[in-house]
Amino acid sequence: MSSVRAKPKFYLTTPLYYSNGLPHIGHTYSTIVADVIRRFKRMRGFDVVMTTGADEHGINVERSAKKAGKPPQEFSTEIVAQWRQLWDDLGIAGDEFIRTTDENHHRTVQWLFKRCRENGFIEKGHYTGQYCVHDNAYVVDAGPGDPCPDCGRPTETVTEENYFFKLSSFQRKLLDFYDANPDFIRPETRRNEVLRFVQGGLKDLSITRTTIRWGIPVPGEAPHVFYVWFDALIGYLSAVGGPEFDERGLWPADLHLVGKEIIRFHAVYWPAFLMAADLPVPKQIWAHGWLLFDSAKMSKSRGNVVRPRPIVNVLGIEPLRYFLLREIVFGQDGSFSYDALVSRYNSDLANGLGNLASRTLTMIERYFGGEIPKPAPARGDEGYAPGSSDFANEALAEVTGLYERLSFSLALEHIWTLVAKLDKYLTMEKPWTLAERPDGRERLATVLYTAAEGLRIIAALSHPVLPQSTGKIWKELGQTEPLGRVQLDQIAWGQLRPGTRIGKPEALFPRVEKSEAIERIESMEQEQNQAAEAAAAGATPAAATAAGTPATPATATPAKITIEDFAKVELRVGQVKSAEPVAGANKLLQLQVDIGDEVRQIVAGIATVYKPEALIGRKVVVVTNLQPRKLRGVESNGMILAASAGPDGSPILAGFLEEVPVGAKIK
Ligand code: MSP
Repeated sequence: MSSVRAKPKFYLTTPLYYSNGLPHIGHTYSTIVADVIRRFKRMRGFDVVMTTGADEHGINVERSAKKAGKPPQEFSTEIVAQWRQLWDDLGIAGDEFIRTTDENHHRTVQWLFKRCRENGFIEKGHYTGQYCVHDNAYVVDAGPGDPCPDCGRPTETVTEENYFFKLSSFQRKLLDFYDANPDFIRPETRRNEVLRFVQGGLKDLSITRTTIRWGIPVPGEAPHVFYVWFDALIGYLSAVGGPEFDERGLWPADLHLVGKEIIRFHAVYWPAFLMAADLPVPKQIWAHGWLLFDSAKMSKSRGNVVRPRPIVNVLGIEPLRYFLLREIVFGQDGSFSYDALVSRYNSDLANGLGNLASRTLTMIERYFGGEIPKPAPARGDEGYAPGSSDFANEALAEVTGLYERLSFSLALEHIWTLVAKLDKYLTMEKPWTLAERPDGRERLATVLYTAAEGLRIIAALSHPVLPQSTGKIWKELGQTEPLGRVQLDQIAWGQLRPGTRIGKPEALFPRVEKSEAIERIESMEQEQNQAAEAAAAGATPAAATAAGTPATPATATPAKITIEDFAKVELRVGQVKSAEPVAGANKLLQLQVDIGDEVRQIVAGIATVYKPEALIGRKVVVVTNLQPRKLRGVESNGMILAASAGPDGSPILAGFLEEVPVGAKIK
């Protein structure tokens, strides 16, 4: 390593996400976790670099670009700008952002290929698969004659010349490596899965294609381009110097954080590529589980995605961070629900940490003029009660160890038992009564000092997960050094100096009314999904600005859509057959709407303006070819058009002045 560092380095990465669509909270989860680890490691004295980025090549991006009527580079650039904007807005941007279309990345991939080839691990071979001539793509897992899942046309058996990576030569080496590095693959279940896979024998891997245009060229071997994994994985290295990685001294990565579905590529292919090129192998791959929604993996293709912006617009980013890390056991799958999110927000943040901070600071302001009081000397018989150094030291050691093992949920659970303990302590000690007793002054000082010092330690321990709010608490407690720079092993009970002036307490997490918050999130979500669908179909990216998705900076002039784009939307005259409120949702009505050849269930956000009984028999304009989705657990199969024109943007239904038959097409 040629660079000299004052601190040890820690290099971690998120997956490089495909640029064929916009992020949902599954992607956001991985990036948030990486950010939490980054902040934690900084508080442990490391010089941390986190890389995230975009995987831009391959048939999926090419296809989405085609659908949007744009060249792949232009399409991908617009999508990538939106991802970057989101990470910036959420405060989780990587220190490095690698695009696989970056020149430096191309150079790195070509260089790595050359090294593997010189070492004898690349050879020419033939790849045979089912190919869709119409879509110019291989169909994975299809047999001869099977139809293309995209266009339905029969696939053809095609054989093409490819370059192969001799993965089969690495079986022994990899098994020895896993043996010597038992922590290389985490958690244990994934390690066992990978071991079984490698023990079963490894086949050589086709790493180039001649049928795809949108990829990195194999030098001197046109029309070969590199095929997905011998492209994207190398991005982790390109991000920190590529061939000249030695100059920054960050390689090998200390941690690749991935979802469980891509563990094999990271734990088998990636070390094999690096070994073949005589390069250092990453230290650890950690595979987390999936966020499930309605019991299935959240994914674009299933249409059950939850977007981060509506949640953040209503509750803020910190509640989302807290929820994801507290509720999901890291490494396992976990269900996402708005209900659980808002419940956690109210119980743990509004009533928990927020309330503890505000009561403590308000009482110090009221009873001690805003100065940290001086506690009575410790009596030495406190044991593990708040106010003793044992209490704090044990918490610091325990929670730090849990973070170190990425047991975020347990770490937060532990910290929140401290919150509860202090809360109970205040309730039992009743400082407000002590304040009224002439002999209560000394005890009052001790109680409020204890609460403030406990709060300070809680703020430091929860900082990696709640950076902004704990930073505020820290400052309000009169601490001047930025909390992110404080080292956890330097913190100890009793460092809060009596006499320190505190700042004005600020409401950190105002309580929210659950059903109202969920409705607001869901209606923003619906708007945003529609805008995203419009953008994917080639409409202006400006349409994607709805519900707070910023437009890509590259497109200042609003683009127009073509008549073909518009023709994709199927509109029909519908007639409302029945209407009833959706339980627990103030704005939603569940309607049965006759659209001519069928009756559709549609959930519409019109309850504040329309009474259910007033809608029966009414003719409405229905979008009939939208993906079905669930609102407050009720499936909605279509959308009713309304102008956002009433007071506060409330909806006014679109309708007809003349008589129209039910089911008539609207063009
Ligand atoms: N481009 C590849 C990765 C190449 S890395 C060199 C890819 N991209 S992806 O856009 O599909 O992103 C997959 C990653 O996003 C997962 O590994 C995971 O980190 C995250 N998630 C996507 N959906 C998710 C859930 N439903 N739940 C949790 N994480 C999810 O694969």
